[in-house]
Amino acid sequence: MRSAFINEYDTKQKLAEFILTTDRLSMHSKCFEFEKEFSKYIGSADAVLFNSGGSANLAILQSLKNLGRLKDHDNVGFAAVTWSTNTMPIIQLGMNAIPIDCTINTLNVMSHNLETAIIEHKLKAFFATNVLGFAGDLVEIKKVCDKHNVIFIEDNCESLGAEIDGVKTGNFGLASSCSFYVAHHMSTIEGGMVCTSDKDLAEMLRIVRANGWDRNLSEKQKQKWRVNHDIDDFKANYTFFDLGYNLRPTEITGFLGLLQLKYLEENNNKRCDNFLEINEVIKENNDFISLEFHHVTKPSPFAFSFICKSKEIRDRYLIAFREKGVELRPMIAGNMQKQPFFDKYKTVNVSLPNSDYLDQCSFYCGNFPDMTTEDMQIIKSVLS
Ligand SMILES: Cc1ncc(COP(=O)(O)O)c(C=O)c1O
Repeated sequence: MRSAFINEYDTKQKLAEFILTTDRLSMHSKCFEFEKEFSKYIGSADAVLFNSGGSANLAILQSLKNLGRLKDHDNVGFAAVTWSTNTMPIIQLGMNAIPIDCTINTLNVMSHNLETAIIEHKLKAFFATNVLGFAGDLVEIKKVCDKHNVIFIEDNCESLGAEIDGVKTGNFGLASSCSFYVAHHMSTIEGGMVCTSDKDLAEMLRIVRANGWDRNLSEKQKQKWRVNHDIDDFKANYTFFDLGYNLRPTEITGFLGLLQLKYLEENNNKRCDNFLEINEVIKENNDFISLEFHHVTKPSPFAFSFICKSKEIRDRYLIAFREKGVELRPMIAGNMQKQPFFDKYKTVNVSLPNSDYLDQCSFYCGNFPDMTTEDMQIIKSVLS
């Protein structure tokens, strides 16, 4: 059983002390402080804290609809190899979810995969997933989106801390989400964040996060909404300006976020070193396709990804790793188009040979900062 936090015992002790002494546990100053620190870390103008990464994704899309930038039945592209709660909110919010194939050796949608899909499906937005510590060629992807007037959003839940030429992933799109669920790069138990430098979007995200009301806006923003709708300050207590949910975090999320953020970089560096060590062994083994990540100058892999040259080889390694007691996972949701829920909502049938390949021939296991020499040796012994 892996620990929930970096510096687990110290974190739990501090958390217990915080809970015993604070007079407020619902969303307040710790959350807002964490938002400020996190936006500084990512390099965005603003950050809005949520109760999960999935909520962050839902809130981005709801906010874009509230702002009129996306509409019912718009075609929204997404990486076919991703997580359910990247794809589901597109469908839940009445838009068409169009899967886009990835490139096998990068695990990600690259600009050349995207441009074809934009033209073929007349996409209004592309919700990228930065997969398992890596990303597509985000600089080129942004250029392609700008050229075709497509809104570009990044789901950065799996690649927090990765960098492309000194810029952190999560900064290339109009907005990005990340997750603080246990076993991600940093944990607040449950939690998520949206980063953006778009002021109107940040304002709408705060409305969407809390029931559609204006309570968490600045005084100036509140006045704008109240004057526009002719609402006095008393009535404003229970006035709901646009569609929202209750996706609020608690002060525990904010407290843990502030604490864990301090260890994030060191933690990611350890994971990166582990990855580079295992990657050298993979490169020597003819059963595997090597990962191509020259465009990601600093990856943040919280997993070791294995792309086998056939399904038979994959199945052989699944047995060999399990025999050594290593916990394995499929390559996220595989080809999302083949997930049971998707069939009901499919608007087009897209050919996704590379995502199918990853679905059949790849898998991953966890890469933890506290892995021992013995843990690393077990993995290497299966690979060599
Ligand atoms: C790509 C991606 N998006 C969204 C999520 C959802 O995050 P959460 O579990 O915090 O809701 C995950 C979770 O692992 C993910 O991998």
